[in-house]
Amino acid sequence: MAQRLNVMMNKKPCYDIIFSKGWQELTEELQEMDIQNRKICIVTDSNVDPLYGEQVLEAVSGCCRKAVKYVFPAGEENKNLDTVKKVYNFLIQEKFDRKDLLLALGGGVVGDLTGFAAATYLRGVDFLQIPTTLLAQADSSIGGKTGVDFDGYKNMVGAFKMPRLVYMNFEVLKTLEDRQYFSGFAEIMKNGLIKDSEFYEWLISNMYEICERDLDVVSEMLMKSCTVKKLVVEKDPTEQGERALLNLGHTVGHAIEKAKNFELYHGECVALGTVAAAYISWKKSFLSMEEYYEIRDMFVPFYLPITVDGIEPEAVLGLTKSDKKADGGNIRFVLLKKIGKAVIDTTVTDEEILAAIREICYEEGAVD
Ligand code: GLY
Repeated sequence: MAQRLNVMMNKKPCYDIIFSKGWQELTEELQEMDIQNRKICIVTDSNVDPLYGEQVLEAVSGCCRKAVKYVFPAGEENKNLDTVKKVYNFLIQEKFDRKDLLLALGGGVVGDLTGFAAATYLRGVDFLQIPTTLLAQADSSIGGKTGVDFDGYKNMVGAFKMPRLVYMNFEVLKTLEDRQYFSGFAEIMKNGLIKDSEFYEWLISNMYEICERDLDVVSEMLMKSCTVKKLVVEKDPTEQGERALLNLGHTVGHAIEKAKNFELYHGECVALGTVAAAYISWKKSFLSMEEYYEIRDMFVPFYLPITVDGIEPEAVLGLTKSDKKADGGNIRFVLLKKIGKAVIDTTVTDEEILAAIREICYEEGAVD
């Protein structure tokens, strides 16, 4: 029996997140949605389509008038307006109208891009999310942030568009390559660090089962992690304030992502950015030295990086300052007041950021 969380918007139920093992309950959920006369376009990528494209098409087909599939080449380099244009063309060719739906089947790139196409095609059509990576299940499929990269800038063009349903099938996590799986863990750890110290402790206690992908523990982990995210986005859906706390690790993280030419996964960069933010939090005497090292070293058993090589700290600082997370020119840095309590700080200086970047930049030939 699937578990569910309901996400509220303006104090009204908005959409359910379904936690399930298999596709059976997807069909049941869709049958409840009154879409028998609607068309559904499954948007997915070339990695996910061979694994789940046909199964999902089959699960969806009996619930709507017609189901079609649009597949684009996998990769962050395709998360752009050219791919969105191809989706629009396909929808026009298939005569999709305003009452038809899109279904995002895949990781963060697919979810963000499909959500953006749904937000803009015919001024907005409904969409469903079936996240297939740990990162997308824990973070990007929830909260309605959609968008694409533009001119080398991450998520520079986008819209807030809430899905009608988020359906998670934990079985899909078994087929993820290790690096992809552990990358998703960074966003989960982040949710503990910013809001829930008990959850952070729980992650430490369940480290072995999480690494082994014990699906009962993984489902409990996602339920706890999604509850943190749900509470934050319910209070501040369009990031006027508190939602920005979810960007812990993302300011320096996005800069590293770009400096490394997207060779590292998003979650790996978030881990590095979180180490940098924890370092600044220590230097500002919010965290003790022991807490800083504990946070840093917590990423290691989950195979996440805590140092990075081959980039210039000054270049990363420059990219950090050009990231979109600024407020009237000041970087809105997310720091940790303590484990389980994050704050926005607009007073972090270039020197403090540079020192934190140097802490995580491994320089060839450096002697300890
Ligand atoms: N990934 C951060 C947010 O959804 O706000």
